Amino acid sequence: MAEPILAVEGLTRRFGDFTAVSELSFEIERGEIFGFLGPNGAGKSTTIRMLCGVLAPSAGRARALGLDLFTEADRLRARMGYMSQKSSLLTDLTVIENLRFFGGLYGLEGSRLSGEVEFRLREMQVWSERDLFVSALSTGERQRVALAAATLHRPDILFLDEPTSGVDPLRRRLFWEAMDDLVASGMSILVTTHNLAEADQCDRLAFILAGKLMAYGRPRALKEGLGRQVIELRTDAFRALQAAARSLPGILAAELQGRAVRLSLAAEADPAPLLDRLRAAGLPFESLPAELPSLEDLFVDLVQRSRAAA
Ligand SMILES: Nc1ncnc2c1ncn2[C@@H]1O[C@H](COP(=O)(O)OP(=O)(O)O)[C@@H](O)[C@H]1O
Ligand SMILES: [Mg+2]
Repeated sequence: MAEPILAVEGLTRRFGDFTAVSELSFEIERGEIFGFLGPNGAGKSTTIRMLCGVLAPSAGRARALGLDLFTEADRLRARMGYMSQKSSLLTDLTVIENLRFFGGLYGLEGSRLSGEVEFRLREMQVWSERDLFVSALSTGERQRVALAAATLHRPDILFLDEPTSGVDPLRRRLFWEAMDDLVASGMSILVTTHNLAEADQCDRLAFILAGKLMAYGRPRALKEGLGRQVIELRTDAFRALQAAARSLPGILAAELQGRAVRLSLAAEADPAPLLDRLRAAGLPFESLPAELPSLEDLFVDLVQRSRAAA
């Protein structure tokens, strides 16, 4: 197997007595979209800031592109792109002036600079906005301009910190299509999000909670790892059905979702006898085929288990 593009081992950052990032270890392979998932305050931005060389780690090691991320940071910087959570675009410059400014910081000039700027703005579908001031752009446009700025120098690894927060679903899809294009051109992307639908589109995920890695792997494998199946029951009598389901042995959870009850059972359980017992209780429902649990189920499970352990 090829060497991972980024390998992190025991990465830790303390602020005084507080540990924001605690012994994180993970690897990112070339050409993948790696999702970094966790609630506010989990330590996502702190991790990215260490990996971009903006913040020194308290402990741990990392290698990227065959180099030591912390001792050879200067050689790596030109091969990394970073889009911070707070947009770093200059709002009183136009789109194209911003891109020329950032391109200059990366050492691009002349026709190479003009070429890259046009290529990226077209790729991100903001070429026709090039002469607008950044302050006049929508959030979605602004994020795509920021992505264009972060990729002007054709980095190998791209770090995107909550690039789609505050962006509507349509524009969010546009942003993800742009990411897919970048990955197809050979970049590897680490993206943070707390949007679980986005997380589902990542090649692999790391779930962090209070600075610790709680789960790590492909979305499907993570869902299978929960060892559960979920069956949705459509009914008008959802409250009564939920109460009846909760009283049955073998039902791990019965949660409402709109006018449906979502039953969680062990992956190996046969749901038929349980559904028969619910029908016998005189509550009519329609059941959908069993599915894997969702990332939301995984998230709830991880949070509950970490609370129980605390
Ligand atoms: N410079 C700092 N000084 C002290 N605490 C910090 C600093 N930066 C981040 N933190 C704390 O570290 C934790 C993780 O923050 P952050 O990495 O921004 O989380 P996330 O990006 O997952 O929301 C938070 O509790 C935050 O308050
Ligand atoms: Mg953050």
